[in-house]
Amino acid sequence: MTDAPLLELDKLSTHFVTARGTRVVKAVDEVSLSLRAGETLGVVGESGSGKTTLALSIMRLLPTAARIVGGGLRFAGEDLLAKSPSEMRHIRGKRIAMILQDPMASLNPLFTVGDQVAEPVRVHEHTGRRSARDRARSLLKAVKIPAPEQRLREYPHQMSGGMRQRIVGAIAMACEPRVLIADEPTTSLDVTIQAQYLKLLRDLQREHGLALIFITHNLGIVARMCDSVAVMYAGRVIEAGPVRTIFNAPVHPYTQALIESIPRLGGGPSRLTAIDGQPPDLASLPAGCSFQPRCPRALDRCREEAPGITTVAPGHTARCWLAAK
Ligand SMILES: Nc1ncnc2c1ncn2[C@@H]1O[C@H](COP(=O)(O)OP(=O)(O)O)[C@@H](O)[C@H]1O
Ligand code: SF4
Ligand SMILES: [Mg+2]
Repeated sequence: MTDAPLLELDKLSTHFVTARGTRVVKAVDEVSLSLRAGETLGVVGESGSGKTTLALSIMRLLPTAARIVGGGLRFAGEDLLAKSPSEMRHIRGKRIAMILQDPMASLNPLFTVGDQVAEPVRVHEHTGRRSARDRARSLLKAVKIPAPEQRLREYPHQMSGGMRQRIVGAIAMACEPRVLIADEPTTSLDVTIQAQYLKLLRDLQREHGLALIFITHNLGIVARMCDSVAVMYAGRVIEAGPVRTIFNAPVHPYTQALIESIPRLGGGPSRLTAIDGQPPDLASLPAGCSFQPRCPRALDRCREEAPGITTVAPGHTARCWLAAK
């Protein structure tokens, strides 16, 4: 794990421009991250903070209204922003794969599970029908689907939510990608199935030395799953570092509030501390620090000037004037 980063984002920015070009939403705003093989990075933040747009930017699979407007994106030493759409098609699925937020959106109701799991293998590896089928069977085994032979012949609607999520995981793993991005993969699952799925992802990650980007709004999951964490707020990474550091010594008031809001073991919901105020509207952010209207520790300066990135300790960065002091 001491080699060069596998994936590197350098001040990557992705904007949405509204139909008449009148409003710009900076959904990803100068995000810098790096990830090594075998490492798990958690990306946390409230809904609307830019997590999915960040993932889709890495895949270069953005909706038409969105554009990567600046910064760098490198994978295995290559400049992904310089790749043509057809070169990206070869990289996507095969070398960088993503598990979408909604498993049903990734599965076609009209095709059998077997066809859908075999598809990426056939497309990327030009494998014949029979051996793609064998691969599909072993992939279903790898994601711990009982009776894989029978399941291969079934359709998505014949399966439970947990099972479908595993199928989506199998499709993502089909070509043994080096980077796997899982976008809130457990939101629709109940707690037991959720725990099983997380363990499965963790096992796959360990076995294959995957770099895993795990997107969630649940910091508790990050604590269990990840090596490092990036906290997003209003399109920016406002604090990042090793999980242990972020949990033990968060410096950004937003991270502190998020950590406070994790239900403690044995503590009921009454121990949840909600963060006061509204999540920001990315189309009209306040001047200065975007967290300032909700920040209990805001200084005069915070209303006027946005803080830059401060290195708190090696590998630990924050965007907050308190850290810059
Ligand atoms: N299709 C879209 N058109 C315009 N703006 C969008 C679109 N999708 C997302 N956005 C904007 O980008 C922001 C980030 O969205 P998203 O990346 O989905 O956040 P998250 O995954 O953290 O919930 C949203 O707050 C919204 O303002
Ligand atoms: S820069 Fe100021 S407003 Fe923003 S999080 Fe830090 S203290 Fe709060
Ligand atoms: Mg999202």
